[in-house]
Amino acid sequence: MKTDEHIILYYFSGTGNAKMAAEWFKNEAFNRNMTCEIRVVTEKGKIEVPEKENLLIGFFSPTHGFNFPPIMLDFLFRFPRGKKSDVFILNTRAGMKLYKLFLPGLSGAAQFFTAFILWLKNYKIIGMQPLDMPSNWISIHPALRDKVIVSIVNRCERIVKRFADKLFSGKRVYKAFWSLPFDLAILPIAFLYYFIGRFAIAKTFYASFDCTQCGLCSKNCPVNAIETIDSRKFWSYKCESCMKCMSNCPENAIQTSHSYSIALWIILMSFLSPLFVKFFFDLNLEIFKESSWVSWLTEFSIEMLAFFIINIIAYRIFHFFMRFRIVNKIIEYTSLTKYWRNYNLKKTLRRMQKV
Ligand SMILES: Cc1cc2nc3c(=O)[nH]c(=O)nc-3n(C[C@H](O)[C@H](O)[C@H](O)COP(=O)(O)O)c2cc1C
Repeated sequence: MKTDEHIILYYFSGTGNAKMAAEWFKNEAFNRNMTCEIRVVTEKGKIEVPEKENLLIGFFSPTHGFNFPPIMLDFLFRFPRGKKSDVFILNTRAGMKLYKLFLPGLSGAAQFFTAFILWLKNYKIIGMQPLDMPSNWISIHPALRDKVIVSIVNRCERIVKRFADKLFSGKRVYKAFWSLPFDLAILPIAFLYYFIGRFAIAKTFYASFDCTQCGLCSKNCPVNAIETIDSRKFWSYKCESCMKCMSNCPENAIQTSHSYSIALWIILMSFLSPLFVKFFFDLNLEIFKESSWVSWLTEFSIEMLAFFIINIIAYRIFHFFMRFRIVNKIIEYTSLTKYWRNYNLKKTLRRMQKV
């Protein structure tokens, strides 16, 4: 690695983990008098990459559903072809801590699919580093305690410094290969999350009556997924569930509705979806007489179609009824996110500095 190398770090971040990792990397570059700039990944717009000889490009992103989030994948697909420049990938995952034991998250396709895209675009992959930052998936579990977050973050900072050091001294780092067997095993889940799961999760958010319409959530949403319909917030299918809105809401008004989601899931699975399939079966279509897997695939596709249609209609109805204070309050008090800790890395670190 030459000291005249120019470094560009691209990042996408919901709650601050990937951004923080990019900042640590940048500090390491600055300590060595290298030029380094950080650029945030945006949904649209032209991607300009300088035509320099010694260019190192880094991609920092959270892992969503065992893959890079769609905004990041889309960015990579739009990324210009390279001239054999060096690139590295760092995905932040859901790190946890049990007593003194640091528990890792799982990358799934995040590293390998990204590396494959970049390789096809003529880049040389010199680093593949997963990083187990504190888990931010507050829709499914409370945020970790502040002390645990700080301890995980300190460990991660050391890992990023080591990673940068190695790359700067000309070594290659492929830590992502350590979890390859697990990553391969969960690929079907990554696939299902990308094509189905993320859309369901996008439709679980709402704003309670505590919302003051400050508009911060809509303004800061990286994919412009939060609309205002009838003076209430509405999450479109574009939502990536990155948790940015939830983690930054000054009134803590944005929640995940667990009661609505569970009720919908039960109605969908036990009643509506089978009804939909029966309707198609009764049409006596030729395709259902095909081999077992063709007929299975058709049935699965019909169920998924039912899922999307019902989900859209149900969320509209849900949104309509949320105008009534009593419904809004019932949903709010049956949302687990109301009771458990929120996650925002910067706010936690600020809080801990004051202690
Ligand atoms: C919707 C969603 C899906 C997630 N999926 C995974 C996953 O598949 N594997 C994992 O290790 N962590 C997963 N996480 C955790 C985040 O990747 C992790 O906390 C990351 O560090 C967050 O980074 P950010 O603060 O930059 O957004 C998920 C988080 C969310 C919100």
